[in-house]
Amino acid sequence: MTLTQMAVDILTTSDPHLKVLKSKDYSDRWFASNMSDQRLEIGNTKPPSQPSRPKNPLLLPPRNMPKRKYGTEKGRIALLHAIAHIELNAVDLHWDIIARFADVEMPNGYYDDWVKAAQEESKHFSLLCERLEAMGSYYGDLPAHAGMWSSAEETSEDFLGRLAIVPMVLEARGLDVTPGMIKLFEKINDNETVKTLELIYAEEVGHVAFGSKWFHFLCGRHNKDPKIVFHELVNKYFKSSLKPPFNDEKRAEAGIPLDFYWPIAIS
Ligand SMILES: [Fe+2]
Ligand SMILES: [Fe+2]
Repeated sequence: MTLTQMAVDILTTSDPHLKVLKSKDYSDRWFASNMSDQRLEIGNTKPPSQPSRPKNPLLLPPRNMPKRKYGTEKGRIALLHAIAHIELNAVDLHWDIIARFADVEMPNGYYDDWVKAAQEESKHFSLLCERLEAMGSYYGDLPAHAGMWSSAEETSEDFLGRLAIVPMVLEARGLDVTPGMIKLFEKINDNETVKTLELIYAEEVGHVAFGSKWFHFLCGRHNKDPKIVFHELVNKYFKSSLKPPFNDEKRAEAGIPLDFYWPIAIS
């Protein structure tokens, strides 16, 4: 199998547990092939416009999602369920960027980065499923956000747009909000969930950094000013606005300078 065939196989698998199993297996195969002299080929198999999804969870428009109160056990389950849903979408998003833009010549390191990110998202999803099960729930038990794939669809023909919106806006937002979630579980001494969220937090910095790295790489290739292009793309594709508070320190660690987001943020 080529790397893009693997990506498409994952995207068209609807069962979430089988999807992440394949994702872990294929990423292992990719990295094993890197060590051998028979490197897997990238190929150019086209991804579907949307990934396959299971019957449950029921997908609802954001405005119809039940309001959550995180002070209760039920609210915390809803929060972990929402994060699990984000992680599952992230698995698909990383495999999608691999297959979607495979006709653009990119260095091998580009593929290594997104395979690694997909491998980590798969682990995040499994860990969150374990936490949900420990709390008497499971992924699919509650409704989930239906709009998760819209940014991917809007940027399906715009490589720089995809890099700007998915890792550099959406995943960067994760860096802003995760410390607050960790505190929530620290307060109730749920150490296992704290450990899971801390791992996710640490690894997500890497995903944002991959986005920033390849965004800058492509801007350099086309002799474009990354900051100006980033502002244009966020205005074009990102319907809501960038809202502080921002995690300036982690964003900087991930290669997103202050002047990328502060000038286009609403106060
Ligand atoms: Fe993740
Ligand atoms: Fe991520």
